[in-house]
Amino acid sequence: MNVFLCRADEISEGEAKSFIIGEGKGRRDVVVVRRNGNYHAYVNSCPHQLMPLETFPDKFLNEDGSLFVCSTHGARFRVEDGFCISGPCEGKSLHALTVALDEGRLLVPLSSPA
Ligand code: FES
Repeated sequence: MNVFLCRADEISEGEAKSFIIGEGKGRRDVVVVRRNGNYHAYVNSCPHQLMPLETFPDKFLNEDGSLFVCSTHGARFRVEDGFCISGPCEGKSLHALTVALDEGRLLVPLSSPA
């Protein structure tokens, strides 16, 4: 089952936003980024210590918007595929979610493993 996150135009080019989906054990903290017109979604959990990536709301990206930067120990992940290019979890990846775009609405699957 897919869950509605927001309208696609609520995320500006080069911006990332976080969402909470599900409840109880199915609860997921999700981050969605829009880059070059494409949307990429990940479980918001750094593979180093399973911490959320951000400290301040929706502050996920480096200056040019090409990388997520984990605020805890500075791991850096490509926004296009979630691959960690530097930091304590280099070589690991964020858990990617499939983003569906349906009539201008962004949807992600509810039952995704973290
Ligand atoms: S928790 Fe993300 S780099 Fe350590």
